[in-house]
Amino acid sequence: MAKETLSITDNRTGKTYEVPITDGTIRTADLRQIRTGEEDFGIMGYDPAFMNTASCRSAITFIDGDKGILRYRGYRVDELAEKAGWTETAFLILNGELPTKAQLDTWEGQIKNHTFVHENVRALLSGFRYDAHPMGMLMGGVGALSTFYPEAKDVLDAVSRRRQITRLIAKVPTLAAWAYRHSRGLPFVYPDPDLSYSANFLRMLKQNQEPHYDPHPDVVKALDVLFILHADHEQNCSTNVMRSIGSSQADPYSAVAGAISALWGPLHGGANEAVLKMLKQLGKVENVAEFVKQVKDGSAGQRLMGFGHRVYKNYDPRAKVIKQLADKVFAVVGKKNPLLEVALELERIALSDEYFISRKLYPNVDFYSGLIYEALEIPVEMYTVMFAIPRTVGWLAQWEEMIVDKEQKIARPRQIYTGYDERPFTAMATRKG
Ligand code: CMC
Repeated sequence: MAKETLSITDNRTGKTYEVPITDGTIRTADLRQIRTGEEDFGIMGYDPAFMNTASCRSAITFIDGDKGILRYRGYRVDELAEKAGWTETAFLILNGELPTKAQLDTWEGQIKNHTFVHENVRALLSGFRYDAHPMGMLMGGVGALSTFYPEAKDVLDAVSRRRQITRLIAKVPTLAAWAYRHSRGLPFVYPDPDLSYSANFLRMLKQNQEPHYDPHPDVVKALDVLFILHADHEQNCSTNVMRSIGSSQADPYSAVAGAISALWGPLHGGANEAVLKMLKQLGKVENVAEFVKQVKDGSAGQRLMGFGHRVYKNYDPRAKVIKQLADKVFAVVGKKNPLLEVALELERIALSDEYFISRKLYPNVDFYSGLIYEALEIPVEMYTVMFAIPRTVGWLAQWEEMIVDKEQKIARPRQIYTGYDERPFTAMATRKG
């Protein structure tokens, strides 16, 4: 049988080294032995943006970007979207197995116990400017929670960890809904523990004069599906931030606040907001072809938002489910979003265009989700918040996996220094501007 090793010859010295290959991977630390002499630091790997570097071992989410496969704990995401509920999927992601009925009841009960936030959090949110972006409010609110639960700093205590995980998953929808209510000058609606996770969130978001707010069950199911599809996506930008902050043993509220800020960027979770703005700017199908031309020659000043992915070089499996879901939601709300036609035309042109084909750019999860949120009359500034709610589950599962992983240490990349060598201090009088 062939040896599971890699032989490397250093042409500077003529020496050959043999490094082990495990799971198709070499440890870049094994390259450090390759040196030209005593003074040499040894070879490092240079990989800006982690294009080809595994930062951890993880048993949570599997992606095959070439085949368009996404699985949580071995289950296909489209199958979970069809057959499992949201809290059931969250349990699976956090614990590794689907819950029994009794386990699910306990888990849902625990979440319901923690949906309320301290009244001072309410005062804190009220202090934001009237036009504060809900993502900024969510980030600030979640970060502030760390001051309410100082025991959360004990990240090595498994019981405390689980309590903070439940608190965060339970409280993030409350903060998210209140951030929106604040931006509209609407009174905050307190959680209703009789409702499901998604129904309670919709009620806190939308209840106005009606004494009982009963969201349509199909709308609740649609939200459950959107939450399932967004729950985890292995080592993406915000998850990497979550793990990186967590690696210093900061408390999970601070780490989730950091992950929320990473998610906000338009190249990551902020893309769903950017897609809707782009579709609105286009307005009608006739404008699409010219816009695609401008995207390609760079004169549009933007990319085709909702297209492309670092990992998927095929149709994003989440986008497929969301596209079908959109039709169901439009049927319930009784109106089709006119921007759907623009989106479909954009997709049609892009998928038949050499530029997009050769670069393997397909619609991603963010391309169609905004159309559903718009049909549910959720304002555009809330779209990335809608992404952050379920992703909190993924962040926390990844955080806990990192904390208990004996191989992990504080994250600390190396650099290639490109600045000056040591030089003498220049007195101010002799400095040239
Ligand atoms: N529109 C036009 N061209 C694109 C796009 C796009 N959306 N995405 C990538 N390209 C081009 C890019 O210009 C480059 O072309 P060239 O080789 O000629 O320089 C090539 O495709 C490769 O792009 P890249 O920037 O090296 O790819 P990446 O893996 O670093 O970026 C991405 C991935 C998602 C940031 C990028 O595709 C993008 O900016 N997409 C638009 C924003 C978006 O929809 N983001 C949501 C991602 S899915 C949800 C999530 O992660 O939160």
